[in-house]
Amino acid sequence: MTSTDLYIAEGSPATAEADAVVIGVLPPSQGGDAPRLAPGADEVAAAFDGDAGLIGLLAVAGATGKADEVVKVPTRGSLTAPLLVAVGMGKPDADGAPAAEQVRRAAGAAARALTGIGHALSTLGRVDLAAAAEGTLLGAYSFTAYRTNGNGKAPVGRVGLVADGADAEATLRTAAAIGRAVCTARDLVNTPPNDLFPESFAARARELAEAAGLEVEVLDDEALAAGGFGGVLGVGQGSSRKPRLVRLRYAGGSAPRAKVALVGKGITFDTGGISIKPAANMDHMTSDMGGAAAVIATTVLAAQLELPVAVTATVPMAENMPSATAYRPGDVLRMYGGKTVEVLNTDAEGRLILADAITRAAEDDPDYLVETSTLTGAQQVALGLRTAGVMGSDEFRDRVAAHARATGEDGWAMPLPEHMRGELDSRIADIANVTGARWGGMLVAGTFLREFVPDGLPWAHIDIAGPSFHSGGPYGYTHKGGTGVPVRTMFAVLADIAENG
Ligand code: BES
Ligand code: MN
Ligand code: ZN
Repeated sequence: MTSTDLYIAEGSPATAEADAVVIGVLPPSQGGDAPRLAPGADEVAAAFDGDAGLIGLLAVAGATGKADEVVKVPTRGSLTAPLLVAVGMGKPDADGAPAAEQVRRAAGAAARALTGIGHALSTLGRVDLAAAAEGTLLGAYSFTAYRTNGNGKAPVGRVGLVADGADAEATLRTAAAIGRAVCTARDLVNTPPNDLFPESFAARARELAEAAGLEVEVLDDEALAAGGFGGVLGVGQGSSRKPRLVRLRYAGGSAPRAKVALVGKGITFDTGGISIKPAANMDHMTSDMGGAAAVIATTVLAAQLELPVAVTATVPMAENMPSATAYRPGDVLRMYGGKTVEVLNTDAEGRLILADAITRAAEDDPDYLVETSTLTGAQQVALGLRTAGVMGSDEFRDRVAAHARATGEDGWAMPLPEHMRGELDSRIADIANVTGARWGGMLVAGTFLREFVPDGLPWAHIDIAGPSFHSGGPYGYTHKGGTGVPVRTMFAVLADIAENG
């Protein structure tokens, strides 16, 4: 959870009461050799004998302006705050202004460097207030629920974002809500699978949703059986923790612009089942509900910010375990809606629970469908660990991928080649859950899902196998563990639909 408080700080950061002041540093311009101050640091520079004086001091301390660099300088009375934190922003684009994502990452790196500090001021608010707010909250995030001795130093307590302008408060409110929604998704992903299983996950979804005034429906295993949800039940039957299907509904106010269905994969742990995974790194499969977490957090966020779009979340939850009751390679499942699927690999379980959920979601007759899932290792092979694969209907897919890039989460459009459908032909059922080869595994999974999307419905499938969970060292506003991707992308899509239909 993030406990850091944000507020708009007016007046001069040089003379305001605080424990630290954050400024941005840019790399030297073409042909230059000294780093430069990012906009917003005027009073701070003046307090250090002007730009040249402050730049000279920072350069001596090693500042170069590259991304993720943090240089701390004692102010010795030049500022009211005793500490100056200079954070590198990386090279801006040709037009000279740092992009939103550069501000977000710099704010995140600064927030990580501020742990243990009670109260800081950040002039990055003057560069891009929303980006500074998001980056600060995401960078200050820490997950301490399972530490008995705390987590070392506490995250920065309070950050005043220096900003002026009439709409600063509203901008901050929106950005902070977005940042906190991402942190909610991170918390869910970071909660270990012995505590987060379908029943407890559904209970947490209910709690979050009811607090935001949403309508909640939870189908338990009996209700799933009565409803014919063969995909969710088949995948979940090997676990002693029975599956669930959670539905959250935000009506979109009195005049919603459109109806959007969100669907997220909620495998609370993926052993692979009888087609069991190798032991190495199997613990990462605690994050196989990252899509579900993001969908829940985004739906709650839409309600908190009163977006004029009706949003219905459909979230299948199951634990994929090998056991005497587990589904087998060779089983045929009868999915919700009646289609049959031959299971040739029990580790391709996500698409099975999603098929049920997509069919259910489409019954509400939405105008758009966005589904997201940690679906394939092939996504990581094709696009790496930080770029989501976006598939679906051509136009809407491109729109979603563009939002993924604009928010800084990153995503790239990928095709669903027609010939792949034939490779999923089954010997005995309507379709098989895998092909006989590994080629294009991300696209095969998308092709499988397409079978369950009604013709003509604009839809997007976001494969976040890589981006949802970070195993390397921290950078920018990204920590080890759950990243909260793609909450910001999906929220941007909803906001776009709210404005443009
Ligand atoms: N949850 C995994 C995909 C995954 C892999 C997510 C790595 C995050 C990191 C998914 O259920 C899975 O096991 N997919 C298989 C599909 C295969 C059997 C066709 C895979 O990618 O190997
Ligand atoms: Mn799997
Ligand atoms: Zn999985």
